[in-house]
Amino acid sequence: MSTPMITPKRRFEGQTVIITGAGSGIGWATAQRVAHEGGRVVAVDINQERLDALSEELHNYTVHTVRADVSSEEDIVAIMDCAGNTIDALINNAGIMDGFEPLHEVNDDVWERVMRINVDSVMRLSRAVLPYMLEAGSGAIVNVVSEAALRGSAAGAAYTASKHAVVGLTLSGAAIYTPLGIRINAVAPGGTRTNIVAQPASALGADRVFKIAGAIGARVAEAREVAAAITFLASDDASNISGAVLPSDDGWSAV
Ligand SMILES: NC(=O)c1ccc[n+]([C@@H]2O[C@H](COP(=O)([O-])OP(=O)(O)OC[C@H]3O[C@@H](n4cnc5c(N)ncnc54)[C@H](O)[C@@H]3O)[C@@H](O)[C@H]2O)c1
Repeated sequence: MSTPMITPKRRFEGQTVIITGAGSGIGWATAQRVAHEGGRVVAVDINQERLDALSEELHNYTVHTVRADVSSEEDIVAIMDCAGNTIDALINNAGIMDGFEPLHEVNDDVWERVMRINVDSVMRLSRAVLPYMLEAGSGAIVNVVSEAALRGSAAGAAYTASKHAVVGLTLSGAAIYTPLGIRINAVAPGGTRTNIVAQPASALGADRVFKIAGAIGARVAEAREVAAAITFLASDDASNISGAVLPSDDGWSAV
Protein backbone atom coordinates (compact mmCIF):
# COMPACT_ATOMS: atom_id res chain seq x y z
CA MET A 1 0.00 0.00 0.00
CA SER A 2 1.29 3.47 -0.81
CA THR A 3 1.68 6.16 1.82
CA PRO A 4 -1.46 8.31 2.10
CA MET A 5 -1.14 11.99 1.22
CA ILE A 6 -1.50 14.21 4.28
CA THR A 7 -2.46 17.86 3.78
CA PRO A 8 0.48 19.83 5.10
CA LYS A 9 -0.49 22.69 7.38
CA ARG A 10 1.68 25.17 5.49
CA ARG A 11 0.98 24.41 1.87
CA PHE A 12 2.44 27.71 0.60
CA GLU A 13 5.71 27.71 2.58
CA GLY A 14 8.40 29.39 0.46
CA GLN A 15 5.93 30.28 -2.29
CA THR A 16 4.93 33.61 -3.81
CA VAL A 17 1.22 33.96 -4.51
CA ILE A 18 -0.34 36.96 -6.30
CA ILE A 19 -3.94 37.59 -5.24
CA THR A 20 -6.03 40.27 -6.98
CA GLY A 21 -8.94 41.96 -5.23
CA ALA A 22 -7.24 41.04 -1.96
CA GLY A 23 -8.63 44.06 -0.11
CA SER A 24 -12.08 42.58 0.44
CA GLY A 25 -14.30 39.53 0.51
CA ILE A 26 -13.07 36.37 -1.17
CA GLY A 27 -9.66 37.86 -2.02
CA TRP A 28 -9.11 38.98 1.59
CA ALA A 29 -10.03 35.52 2.91
CA THR A 30 -7.70 33.91 0.37
CA ALA A 31 -4.84 36.23 1.36
CA GLN A 32 -5.42 35.33 5.03
CA ARG A 33 -5.32 31.63 4.26
CA VAL A 34 -2.21 31.78 2.06
CA ALA A 35 -0.36 33.96 4.61
CA HIS A 36 -1.27 31.67 7.50
CA GLU A 37 -0.05 28.71 5.46
CA GLY A 38 3.40 30.24 5.00
CA GLY A 39 3.10 31.96 1.62
CA ARG A 40 4.49 35.32 0.56
CA VAL A 41 1.40 37.21 -0.54
CA VAL A 42 1.40 39.88 -3.23
CA ALA A 43 -1.94 41.49 -2.42
CA VAL A 44 -3.35 43.60 -5.24
CA ASP A 45 -6.34 45.92 -5.05
CA ILE A 46 -7.49 49.22 -6.53
CA ASN A 47 -8.52 50.42 -3.06
CA GLN A 48 -5.58 51.59 -0.90
CA GLU A 49 -7.58 51.81 2.34
CA ARG A 50 -8.58 48.18 2.04
CA LEU A 51 -4.98 47.16 1.37
CA ASP A 52 -3.85 49.10 4.45
CA ALA A 53 -6.44 47.25 6.56
CA LEU A 54 -5.21 43.90 5.18
CA SER A 55 -1.58 44.81 5.92
CA GLU A 56 -2.54 45.75 9.46
CA GLU A 57 -4.37 42.49 10.07
CA LEU A 58 -1.59 40.38 8.58
CA HIS A 59 1.35 42.40 9.92
CA ASN A 60 3.00 39.27 11.33
CA TYR A 61 3.05 37.61 7.92
CA THR A 62 4.79 38.25 4.60
CA VAL A 63 2.32 40.41 2.74
CA HIS A 64 3.26 43.01 0.10
CA THR A 65 0.49 45.27 -1.09
CA VAL A 66 0.23 46.83 -4.54
CA ARG A 67 -2.39 49.43 -5.36
CA ALA A 68 -3.23 48.63 -8.94
CA ASP A 69 -6.05 48.47 -11.44
CA VAL A 70 -5.73 44.92 -12.74
CA SER A 71 -7.22 45.92 -16.08
CA SER A 72 -4.43 48.42 -16.79
CA GLU A 73 -1.29 47.21 -18.58
CA GLU A 74 0.78 49.90 -16.80
CA ASP A 75 -0.36 48.68 -13.40
CA ILE A 76 0.43 45.07 -14.31
CA VAL A 77 4.08 46.16 -14.53
CA ALA A 78 3.97 47.37 -10.90
CA ILE A 79 2.47 44.05 -9.78
CA MET A 80 5.20 42.09 -11.55
CA ASP A 81 7.92 44.36 -10.11
CA CYS A 82 6.66 43.56 -6.63
CA ALA A 83 6.22 39.82 -7.25
CA GLY A 84 9.70 39.20 -8.72
CA ASN A 85 10.70 36.38 -11.04
CA THR A 86 9.36 33.44 -9.07
CA ILE A 87 5.59 33.24 -8.97
CA ASP A 88 4.18 29.98 -7.70
CA ALA A 89 0.51 30.85 -7.95
CA LEU A 90 -1.74 33.57 -9.35
CA ILE A 91 -5.29 34.01 -8.06
CA ASN A 92 -7.29 36.14 -10.53
CA ASN A 93 -10.07 37.15 -8.14
CA ALA A 94 -10.80 40.88 -8.63
CA GLY A 95 -14.14 41.44 -10.29
CA ILE A 96 -17.29 43.53 -10.41
CA MET A 97 -21.00 42.80 -10.91
CA ASP A 98 -23.33 44.33 -13.45
CA GLY A 99 -26.81 45.68 -12.69
CA PHE A 100 -28.65 42.49 -13.79
CA GLU A 101 -29.34 44.13 -17.20
CA PRO A 102 -30.69 41.68 -19.79
CA LEU A 103 -29.23 41.89 -23.28
CA HIS A 104 -31.54 44.57 -24.71
CA GLU A 105 -30.83 46.88 -21.74
CA VAL A 106 -27.02 46.61 -21.68
CA ASN A 107 -25.36 49.96 -22.29
CA ASP A 108 -21.85 50.31 -23.68
CA ASP A 109 -20.39 51.67 -20.40
CA VAL A 110 -21.53 48.68 -18.35
CA TRP A 111 -20.41 46.23 -21.03
CA GLU A 112 -16.96 47.84 -21.41
CA ARG A 113 -16.36 48.13 -17.63
CA VAL A 114 -17.46 44.60 -16.79
CA MET A 115 -15.52 42.99 -19.64
CA ARG A 116 -12.41 45.08 -18.91
CA ILE A 117 -12.28 44.38 -15.18
CA ASN A 118 -13.53 40.78 -15.25
CA VAL A 119 -11.92 39.49 -18.45
CA ASP A 120 -9.11 41.77 -19.73
CA SER A 121 -7.51 41.70 -16.28
CA VAL A 122 -7.34 37.89 -16.24
CA MET A 123 -5.81 37.81 -19.70
CA ARG A 124 -3.31 40.60 -18.92
CA LEU A 125 -2.01 39.31 -15.60
CA SER A 126 -1.92 35.67 -16.74
CA ARG A 127 -0.01 36.78 -19.84
CA ALA A 128 2.51 38.57 -17.65
CA VAL A 129 2.98 35.70 -15.18
CA LEU A 130 3.05 32.71 -17.55
CA PRO A 131 6.56 33.27 -18.98
CA TYR A 132 7.99 32.99 -15.44
CA MET A 133 5.95 29.86 -14.73
CA LEU A 134 7.09 28.39 -18.07
CA GLU A 135 10.69 29.15 -17.17
CA ALA A 136 10.21 27.40 -13.80
CA GLY A 137 8.25 24.52 -15.35
CA SER A 138 5.63 24.85 -12.62
CA GLY A 139 2.84 27.08 -11.35
CA ALA A 140 -0.86 27.30 -10.67
CA ILE A 141 -3.47 29.82 -11.76
CA VAL A 142 -6.92 29.95 -10.18
CA ASN A 143 -9.58 32.15 -11.77
CA VAL A 144 -12.57 33.17 -9.66
CA VAL A 145 -15.64 32.96 -11.85
CA SER A 146 -19.24 32.61 -10.61
CA GLU A 147 -22.44 30.63 -10.76
CA ALA A 148 -22.99 32.98 -13.71
CA ALA A 149 -20.24 31.07 -15.53
CA LEU A 150 -22.35 27.92 -15.33
CA ARG A 151 -25.85 29.16 -16.17
CA GLY A 152 -27.75 32.10 -17.65
CA SER A 153 -29.89 33.00 -14.66
CA ALA A 154 -27.46 34.27 -12.01
CA ALA A 155 -26.68 37.85 -13.19
CA GLY A 156 -27.10 40.21 -16.14
CA ALA A 157 -25.87 39.61 -19.68
CA ALA A 158 -22.51 41.41 -19.30
CA TYR A 159 -21.46 39.68 -16.07
CA THR A 160 -22.64 36.29 -17.37
CA ALA A 161 -20.71 36.75 -20.62
CA SER A 162 -17.61 37.92 -18.74
CA LYS A 163 -17.51 34.90 -16.44
CA HIS A 164 -18.13 32.49 -19.33
CA ALA A 165 -15.19 34.16 -21.08
CA VAL A 166 -12.96 33.47 -18.08
CA VAL A 167 -13.96 29.80 -18.20
CA GLY A 168 -12.74 29.89 -21.81
CA LEU A 169 -9.38 31.30 -20.72
CA THR A 170 -9.19 28.65 -18.00
CA LEU A 171 -9.84 25.74 -20.37
CA SER A 172 -7.66 27.08 -23.16
CA GLY A 173 -4.82 27.65 -20.70
CA ALA A 174 -5.20 24.22 -19.12
CA ALA A 175 -5.16 22.51 -22.53
CA ILE A 176 -1.93 24.22 -23.54
CA TYR A 177 0.09 24.55 -20.33
CA THR A 178 -0.73 21.48 -18.21
CA PRO A 179 1.88 19.30 -19.96
CA LEU A 180 4.40 22.08 -19.21
CA GLY A 181 3.77 21.89 -15.45
CA ILE A 182 1.26 24.73 -15.09
CA ARG A 183 -2.23 23.99 -13.81
CA ILE A 184 -5.11 26.38 -14.53
CA ASN A 185 -8.46 26.00 -12.77
CA ALA A 186 -11.46 28.08 -11.78
CA VAL A 187 -13.71 28.32 -8.74
CA ALA A 188 -17.37 29.23 -9.28
CA PRO A 189 -18.81 30.75 -6.11
CA GLY A 190 -22.53 31.03 -5.51
CA GLY A 191 -23.84 33.85 -3.31
CA THR A 192 -21.12 34.85 -0.87
CA ARG A 193 -21.17 37.47 1.91
CA THR A 194 -18.69 40.15 0.72
CA ASN A 195 -18.67 43.84 -0.19
CA ILE A 196 -19.49 43.26 -3.86
CA VAL A 197 -22.02 45.78 -5.16
CA ALA A 198 -24.98 44.09 -6.87
CA GLN A 199 -27.29 47.05 -7.41
CA PRO A 200 -30.20 46.11 -9.70
CA ALA A 201 -30.47 48.52 -12.64
CA SER A 202 -33.10 46.48 -14.48
CA ALA A 203 -36.46 45.47 -13.05
CA LEU A 204 -36.87 42.75 -15.66
CA GLY A 205 -33.43 41.22 -15.10
CA ALA A 206 -33.45 41.46 -11.30
CA ASP A 207 -36.95 40.03 -11.02
CA ARG A 208 -36.08 36.97 -13.10
CA VAL A 209 -32.69 36.34 -11.45
CA PHE A 210 -33.97 36.77 -7.88
CA LYS A 211 -37.01 34.56 -8.53
CA ILE A 212 -34.87 31.71 -9.85
CA ALA A 213 -32.16 32.04 -7.18
CA GLY A 214 -34.85 32.29 -4.49
CA ALA A 215 -36.53 29.12 -5.73
CA ILE A 216 -33.22 27.23 -5.55
CA GLY A 217 -32.63 28.54 -2.05
CA ALA A 218 -28.87 27.99 -1.76
CA ARG A 219 -27.50 29.64 1.37
CA VAL A 220 -25.13 32.62 1.24
CA ALA A 221 -21.61 31.38 1.99
CA GLU A 222 -18.82 32.99 3.98
CA ALA A 223 -15.80 34.17 1.98
CA ARG A 224 -13.52 31.78 3.86
CA GLU A 225 -15.47 28.81 2.46
CA VAL A 226 -14.73 29.96 -1.08
CA ALA A 227 -11.10 30.69 -0.12
CA ALA A 228 -10.77 27.04 0.96
CA ALA A 229 -11.64 25.90 -2.58
CA ILE A 230 -9.32 28.49 -4.16
CA THR A 231 -6.34 27.55 -1.98
CA PHE A 232 -6.98 23.85 -2.59
CA LEU A 233 -6.69 24.38 -6.36
CA ALA A 234 -3.68 26.69 -5.98
CA SER A 235 -1.80 24.18 -3.82
CA ASP A 236 -0.08 20.89 -4.56
CA ASP A 237 -3.12 19.15 -3.06
CA ALA A 238 -4.62 19.66 -6.52
CA SER A 239 -1.53 18.38 -8.36
CA ASN A 240 -3.67 16.18 -10.62
CA ILE A 241 -6.34 18.81 -11.39
CA SER A 242 -6.22 21.24 -14.31
CA GLY A 243 -9.04 22.68 -16.39
CA ALA A 244 -11.63 22.18 -13.64
CA VAL A 245 -14.39 24.67 -12.82
CA LEU A 246 -15.15 23.89 -9.21
CA PRO A 247 -18.47 25.20 -7.84
CA SER A 248 -18.46 26.43 -4.25
CA ASP A 249 -22.15 27.17 -4.05
CA ASP A 250 -24.05 25.05 -1.51
CA GLY A 251 -25.21 22.77 -4.32
CA TRP A 252 -26.77 25.48 -6.53
CA SER A 253 -25.04 24.08 -9.64
CA ALA A 254 -26.63 20.66 -9.04
CA VAL A 255 -30.17 22.03 -9.32
N1 LIG B 1 -19.81 37.70 -3.55
C1 LIG B 1 -20.46 36.90 -4.36
O1 LIG B 1 -21.65 36.55 -4.12
C2 LIG B 1 -19.78 36.34 -5.61
C3 LIG B 1 -20.41 35.30 -6.30
C4 LIG B 1 -19.80 34.79 -7.42
C5 LIG B 1 -18.58 35.27 -7.86
N2 LIG B 1 -17.97 36.28 -7.18
C6 LIG B 1 -16.68 36.75 -7.68
O2 LIG B 1 -15.73 36.73 -6.65
C7 LIG B 1 -14.70 37.69 -6.92
C8 LIG B 1 -14.44 38.50 -5.66
O3 LIG B 1 -15.60 39.24 -5.35
P1 LIG B 1 -16.07 39.59 -3.86
O4 LIG B 1 -17.47 39.13 -3.75
O5 LIG B 1 -15.07 39.16 -2.87
O6 LIG B 1 -16.16 41.18 -4.03
P2 LIG B 1 -15.60 42.40 -3.15
O7 LIG B 1 -16.18 43.61 -3.80
O8 LIG B 1 -15.87 42.18 -1.70
O9 LIG B 1 -14.04 42.35 -3.42
C9 LIG B 1 -13.50 42.60 -4.69
C10 LIG B 1 -12.23 43.43 -4.55
O10 LIG B 1 -11.72 43.66 -5.86
C11 LIG B 1 -11.25 44.99 -5.94
N3 LIG B 1 -11.27 45.46 -7.32
C12 LIG B 1 -12.34 45.79 -8.07
N4 LIG B 1 -11.95 46.21 -9.28
C13 LIG B 1 -10.60 46.15 -9.29
C14 LIG B 1 -9.60 46.48 -10.25
N5 LIG B 1 -9.93 46.97 -11.45
N6 LIG B 1 -8.31 46.28 -9.92
C15 LIG B 1 -7.96 45.81 -8.71
N7 LIG B 1 -8.86 45.50 -7.75
C16 LIG B 1 -10.15 45.67 -8.05
C17 LIG B 1 -12.22 45.79 -5.06
O11 LIG B 1 -11.66 47.02 -4.62
C18 LIG B 1 -12.49 44.82 -3.92
O12 LIG B 1 -11.60 45.04 -2.82
C19 LIG B 1 -15.20 38.51 -8.12
O13 LIG B 1 -14.54 38.07 -9.30
C20 LIG B 1 -16.68 38.19 -8.19
O14 LIG B 1 -17.20 38.30 -9.50
C21 LIG B 1 -18.54 36.83 -6.05
